[in-house]
Amino acid sequence: MSVISEKIQEILAYAKSRLEESNEAGDVNDMRVRLLGKSGELTSLLRGLKDIPPEERPGVGKLVNEARDSIASMIELRLALLKRLELERKIRDERIDVTLSGKGIKRGSYHPCTLVREEILRVFISLGFSVEQGPEIESDYYNFRRMNMPKDHPARDMQDTFYITPDVLLRTHTSPVQARVMDKSKPPIRVVCPGKVYRPDDDATHSPMFQQVEGLVVDKNITLCDLKGTLECAAKELFDSKTKIRFRPSYFPFTEPSVEVDVTCPVCHGKGCRICKGTGWIEVLGAGVVNPAVLRDSGIDPDIYSGFAFGMGVERIAMIKYGIPDMRILFENDARFLSGFKEEI
Ligand code: DAH
Repeated sequence: MSVISEKIQEILAYAKSRLEESNEAGDVNDMRVRLLGKSGELTSLLRGLKDIPPEERPGVGKLVNEARDSIASMIELRLALLKRLELERKIRDERIDVTLSGKGIKRGSYHPCTLVREEILRVFISLGFSVEQGPEIESDYYNFRRMNMPKDHPARDMQDTFYITPDVLLRTHTSPVQARVMDKSKPPIRVVCPGKVYRPDDDATHSPMFQQVEGLVVDKNITLCDLKGTLECAAKELFDSKTKIRFRPSYFPFTEPSVEVDVTCPVCHGKGCRICKGTGWIEVLGAGVVNPAVLRDSGIDPDIYSGFAFGMGVERIAMIKYGIPDMRILFENDARFLSGFKEEI
């Protein structure tokens, strides 16, 4: 009896010290198998009961069972302790400091050309114009022929062209949208047509793709004065209220007479500076009275109706408005440059 109880004390002492050293739940579970499992030390003690005198068996059995219970509860206690320590470690390591300032979400901003295009459209919409669009892949017929530039017309040289086939091209201007609008609607017409256009040019003031906004008004008694009044009003809105405009004679096959339109330099207000090369004026668009031939081709009688048209480059106006010296920066997608334009549309 005393031999067995000594053995049990030994096992208990061993279990206690090993469990105290175990810092992983896995080790504790190994101990459970080792001490209490089928081939564990206590189990083999129980098996040995048959070898001791029958009158001692109940006493020994009781001792062994008590030892089992006490080892089992030591194991549970140790596991609970390890679990609590693990939780405390996690709380310590994964603590979130809610008082730290947040990371902040970077907000995009509109591209300066988008801002300018939408501003141009807003101004003309407020003057009663509606917005129309046409295809970027255009026929020679609409891009040139309907704009009064038959094949071999020298004015075609003014607009270098990306041809897809001899009859299909990337439109070189938004003017063909004029013809498309006139084909499907009757006067009075008052439209602005924004869109991308393409020409094989690439330098500080030209890009192979750029945007234009075309304007067309057709009604009875439309004159060059209406063009001037409309553009002056738009320029005052787009730049500032002191802006003046002037017309210089020019040539476009689709307008007669044709003009080049200048605005007073928005930087020096006409005094002369680097931006306007000392002249006080900056050229912003081409315009004119719609050539009767263009009206006639669209089935509009030029003896009854007349019109004016204009076409402006969006990038060019953005460069003037924001003082951007090189057009290429508009296409480089440099966030440091683009993030400077935070205006809302
Ligand atoms: N389409 C011309 C160009 O891209 C610009 C232009 C000039 C448009 C006169 C017009 C206009 O509507 O009347 O160079």
